[in-house]
Amino acid sequence: MTDKIDKWLRSGPEAVLRKAGLREGNRVLDLGCGQGRYAIPAARIVGDTGWVHAVDKDRQNLREVKRRAAKEGLRNIDTVHVHVARHSAIPIQPGTIDVILIYDVLHGFPEKAERDNLLRQVHRLLRPGGFLSCCLTHLREFGWTYKKTLAEIADAGFRLRRQFRPTLVHAGKLVRVRIFQFAKPG
Ligand SMILES: C[S@@+](CC[C@H](N)C(=O)[O-])C[C@H]1O[C@@H](n2cnc3c(N)ncnc32)[C@H](O)[C@@H]1O
Repeated sequence: MTDKIDKWLRSGPEAVLRKAGLREGNRVLDLGCGQGRYAIPAARIVGDTGWVHAVDKDRQNLREVKRRAAKEGLRNIDTVHVHVARHSAIPIQPGTIDVILIYDVLHGFPEKAERDNLLRQVHRLLRPGGFLSCCLTHLREFGWTYKKTLAEIADAGFRLRRQFRPTLVHAGKLVRVRIFQFAKPG
């Protein structure tokens, strides 16, 4: 199993992001980036003509993202330290982002007012025609359902375009998850 996990960690995140539709030249925001499992391969995919903002509330995670980016010689990524809460704003210019990733993060927003603020901000930051890629995890623990969560995201002004079901490493295990792709109508 460890071999399989190691193998996935080497090439799996990049494959997931390509399936999600990331392309060279995209401007990406990874919200709740952790230590950069997706932000680093996203920077590889978008290349010199794109950019990745890696956003997290945990400074230690952001230091690790910087370390990994430096190790790979990636110059197209910055880290943004912000604790997104009911009243906080992500300090990035509205309407400038092509793709926002929210992977394994939404459960960190158990209060509806916080989720609403988060989704309002995501909507504001995306350019019209941009998309939100959302990997929903831990729903059962919080008594949520896909239906309820997808409805909340739709209420924030997004349109569900498609979903895919990759296998990825979550909480140290290979599991099958659902990733939902939402558009911000142009
Ligand atoms: C489970 S990790 C997921 C990391 C990464 N997205 C992945 O899938 O590997 C959740 C991350 O979201 C961050 N996070 C949780 N709540 C947050 C908030 N309110 N504002 C900013 N970051 C937050 C945590 O610090 C953590 O790094």
